[in-house]
Amino acid sequence: MAKTAELHYEGKSYEVPVIEGTEGELALDISDLREQTGLITLDIGYKNTGSTKSAVTFLDGELGILRYRGYDIEELAEKSTFIEVAYLLVYGELPNKETLHKFQKDITMHTLVHEDMRKIYDAFPASSHPMGVLSTMVSALTAFYPKSLDPNRSPEAVNLTILRLLAKMPTIAAWAYKNEMGHPLNYPRNDLDYCSNFLYMMFGFPTETYHSDPVLVDALEKLLILHADHEQNCSTSTVRMVGSSQASLYAAVAGAINALWGPRHGGANQEVLEMLETIHRDGGNVQKYVDKAKEKGSNFRLFGFGHRVYKNFDPRAKIIKKTCDNVLAKLGINDPLLEIAMKLEEVALKDEYFIARKLYPNVDFYSGIIYKAMGFPVDMFTVMFALGRLPGWIAQWKEMREENQPIGRPRQIYTGQTVRHYVSMSQRS
Ligand code: CMC
Repeated sequence: MAKTAELHYEGKSYEVPVIEGTEGELALDISDLREQTGLITLDIGYKNTGSTKSAVTFLDGELGILRYRGYDIEELAEKSTFIEVAYLLVYGELPNKETLHKFQKDITMHTLVHEDMRKIYDAFPASSHPMGVLSTMVSALTAFYPKSLDPNRSPEAVNLTILRLLAKMPTIAAWAYKNEMGHPLNYPRNDLDYCSNFLYMMFGFPTETYHSDPVLVDALEKLLILHADHEQNCSTSTVRMVGSSQASLYAAVAGAINALWGPRHGGANQEVLEMLETIHRDGGNVQKYVDKAKEKGSNFRLFGFGHRVYKNFDPRAKIIKKTCDNVLAKLGINDPLLEIAMKLEEVALKDEYFIARKLYPNVDFYSGIIYKAMGFPVDMFTVMFALGRLPGWIAQWKEMREENQPIGRPRQIYTGQTVRHYVSMSQRS
């Protein structure tokens, strides 16, 4: 029998349907609450609001579970490749040998970006943050592929837009870095796999042969897999919100890149490293920064700590920590920042303030240290997050469009002035 909840309001009772997900999560379906009762719900920051049903990613914040299409993140990080995970997220199933081969081939067909896009790169000052460049360039794809703007295209045409975006994103991201450095751009090499090609475009030079280090390729595969989706977070909700107006996928993903940029979301990985560097320069006094984060009204937070949904541990942080140890060991890097990070983790995890608020290291806490060891500059860290998150954004956008979900349009409780009349300038005090 379908479950219901009862709401009593002003002497009347209303039945509210209860929706159950495949993992047993429950929700009140309040879609006609206002019609029935005149009430809306208020939940600033959507802390307790489900914005959609979705079959892409399952997350249990209490148990620290993260699954893409039913597969545990630990298993995927250990056994899969990023491109395989991208296929899984976008199309719902793991590819077989043939479909994976075709997917990879289709992607390599579209890795180049239009030469005219180079003119846009040229116009950016060297001081441009690569996240701003990335979102601009992804948005600019609408100009080079105007048919992507048509909301009524066939599924094949939509798929072409998806493949183009997956293929061009590494090129666009690596060129943002090369442009910032003032170095010549590397054109994609289609004989390389997704991650090796990206590392080549980032770190190769036309004047020398580039061989990517398998340790780095493996670390990159893992990092991208761990970031590939995370259900309805800020940037993914942005993809869905922008996409719900039937704007193009490129426009929706450009919006998501901007949402990811902020220091409370993907931008935290850059902030973590800058924070560790500050602590290091300041003599490594970890306690001082833990105390500062606890200070009421200080507005300083320990970046890389805390999560809206994970309240015991972030499963991605566990895997990343292991990858981080491997990368540093194999590259022979002895980074003092890692020592500070470990001390910080130790102090914070024992501190009453952090325990009471269930603040644990999140995915961003260690990723910056690995990216630094791999040679990425700090301002590229969030770009790396975006590169990883792309298949998730696409999968969520595709799901929403295929279900023909309505435009996202929340309501509000108005708290401003009630009606008043215009007063001419001469009569104003
Ligand atoms: N350092 C110190 N205090 C914190 C921190 C932190 N990192 N995070 C939360 N708090 C405190 C916060 O001040 C508040 O305290 P009080 O109840 O006394 O006012 C309490 O914990 C709850 O914080 P909140 O901001 O209401 O929690 P939220 O669920 O809205 O925020 C968060 C989640 C991730 C935005 C937040 O924990 C944060 O700002 N962390 C630092 C930034 C960060 O690492 N972000 C990356 C998240 S993982 C990657 C991703 O998916 O984006």
